[in-house]
Amino acid sequence: MPALIVGNWKMNGLGEDIAEIAAMAGSGARAVWIAPPFTLIDRAVIVSAGAVKIGGQDCHAKDKGAHTGCVSAAMLADLGAGFVIVGHSERRRDNGEGDADVRAKAAAGLAAGLEVILCIGETREQRDAGQTDAVLSRQLAGSLPDTAEGLIIAYEPVWAIGTGLTPTLADVAAAHGHIRTELVGRFGSAGHGVRILYGGSVTPANAGELLGVAEVGGLLVGGASLTAQSLLAIAAAA
Ligand code: PGA
Repeated sequence: MPALIVGNWKMNGLGEDIAEIAAMAGSGARAVWIAPPFTLIDRAVIVSAGAVKIGGQDCHAKDKGAHTGCVSAAMLADLGAGFVIVGHSERRRDNGEGDADVRAKAAAGLAAGLEVILCIGETREQRDAGQTDAVLSRQLAGSLPDTAEGLIIAYEPVWAIGTGLTPTLADVAAAHGHIRTELVGRFGSAGHGVRILYGGSVTPANAGELLGVAEVGGLLVGGASLTAQSLLAIAAAA
């Protein structure tokens, strides 16, 4: 399985930035996915012409209804999106989403035929208190959908996101190993097939060593995914 490199653009990108996605798509790089803001998904699907899979950064748990400002997984699929990120720590923080919300969104994404990238990770305080494994177990227990089919997990330590800080490679290996054990415990042998991404301050400089860690099946990249030059340098490390 080639490593998967997923760019999360967060609340960044205007029409002119579509050129970056076009450049990524034209590069011939494989296994590169981008989650632009909702406003660019339509255009991103068109310029990527299937070469880069386009996805959403969030979805509502319901298919449709009276939820002003929200976007459903079915709507993402209708635009041509192929995946959705759920449970990102910024959504947990800014929008008060808990594990049960994340579980419902993950189920909605899978039901709409999207691949689902489900994010988990500990805070600095939790790591310092030696609670990392317990936090990851609790988040997985509360948010995993019923099936492993179409599921991807992203391990993103909250304190590593946008800070320039990353865990040691040994800590990444330990967290990913723990997540794998939990996935197999939950899904049986299908748990071995769930890809586990690392995310948090990934750059072209550290991508290679992170991808060399056991059980790291790819990277979820924020700031360094905004330009084709930077993201393709990370993809080259894969
Ligand atoms: P970062 O963000 O690469 O800017 O740290 C990663 C993420 O939040 O997915």
